[in-house]
Amino acid sequence: MSENRPSWTSRLTFILAAVGSAVGLGNIWRFPYIMGQNGGAIFLLVYLILILTICFIPLIAELYMGKFLKKDCVSAYESISTKFKPLGYLNPITGVLISSFYFIVGGWIINYIFLSLKNAQITNYSEYFGIFTQSSISTCIFTLAFLFMCIFFTARGIKKGIEFANNVLMPMFAVILVGLIIFSLNLPNAHLGLEYMFKPDFSKVNAHMLLAALGQALFTLSIGMGALFTYGSYIKEDKSITKSAYTIIFSDTMFALMAGIMIFPAIFSFGLEPSSGAGLVFVTLPYIFSQIPHGNIVSSAFFILLFAAAVTSGISIIEVPIATMVERFKFTRTKACVLLFCIISALAIPATLSFGILNNFHIFGKNIFDFFDFATSNLLMPLNTLFLCIIAGWFLKIKGHLFLKNKFLAKLFDIGLKYIVPFILILLLYIGLR
Ligand code: TRP
Repeated sequence: MSENRPSWTSRLTFILAAVGSAVGLGNIWRFPYIMGQNGGAIFLLVYLILILTICFIPLIAELYMGKFLKKDCVSAYESISTKFKPLGYLNPITGVLISSFYFIVGGWIINYIFLSLKNAQITNYSEYFGIFTQSSISTCIFTLAFLFMCIFFTARGIKKGIEFANNVLMPMFAVILVGLIIFSLNLPNAHLGLEYMFKPDFSKVNAHMLLAALGQALFTLSIGMGALFTYGSYIKEDKSITKSAYTIIFSDTMFALMAGIMIFPAIFSFGLEPSSGAGLVFVTLPYIFSQIPHGNIVSSAFFILLFAAAVTSGISIIEVPIATMVERFKFTRTKACVLLFCIISALAIPATLSFGILNNFHIFGKNIFDFFDFATSNLLMPLNTLFLCIIAGWFLKIKGHLFLKNKFLAKLFDIGLKYIVPFILILLLYIGLR
């Protein structure tokens, strides 16, 4: 069977695909709005600490396990012990649930691309966002269009597209972001945004914020859903994955910070509310673009590049359930893609409608969209990461010296994987969900 598994043409392709998976809507859309809802600078501080300490370990462990076991998540977990099979299934299930809200935001981007290309003049962007997300038919069509595109690329083999998106489009995206940052920093009252981002208010520390920071850190690095595991399993040659892990963490954090420095000064300058939720970026950015000469051109370029970033991440999310269907259930790739399209649509359409006709339908006090987001980022991904660390540390007995040259760091990795990371994950889950 292993001869039929796809594999990366080179180490670089793999790194680019992994970075492409990490950098996406999580950085530009989710990071600023979750930070705005959780106290600003203090959230950023906790988030950065988590990324550099707690997340680094499962990131490497997930990549290494994939590379070492060379199977889809379910078969891989099962090969360690049949008892772990249900835990393996949690990964593709989480993937389907993440898709059910991620692709909706992808759909919003398509709409904003059209708006920018048409140079539509809108007077009140928050009102526009509200009306647009309530309009059931068009949002559903955009969601399905985005889903279709990701599935189409996945079905057609993804290497060329991903390589192009990451080699050419991502550097362009970074350049546009830098331009927008310079503009944003020159707005009146920009310093208030920077203070909000970088001057922590320790009185805002609370259990929910800690769990939200963990959820965002895992989400943005694509940890805890088998995406990196699956990408790792396509690595052919026997090279260390540590460098890839550093590259993923570095680029992902840079993109998130750039997004923050672009958004927050503008929020304060325009007198908007940082805690306004999922629409934050879609309200703030068009404001910025409307102030810039030839803003519609900049805006079109921005949303097209964000779209490319979202597609490379979306592809990595659906690759996990697809790998499972192909390898375990012996589906052809095309058949798996068609079936997955139907399953995700069945979940994503009600979630799309939760901004419109289904807005009174709540699960645990949240609308369907927010529920999928919360259940995956703050519950399933930390849980999957916990299981991954326990299986990797206690059963597979993965050791740090396999990929870390520095003896001290390797020892730290061993202790982290077996004790510290599981402990902190359990603690954050416990206090955050109480
Ligand atoms: N990390 C991506 C982003 O920031 C989203 C993503 C891709 C993801 N693959 C994932 C999230 C796997 C969780 C799990 O946009």
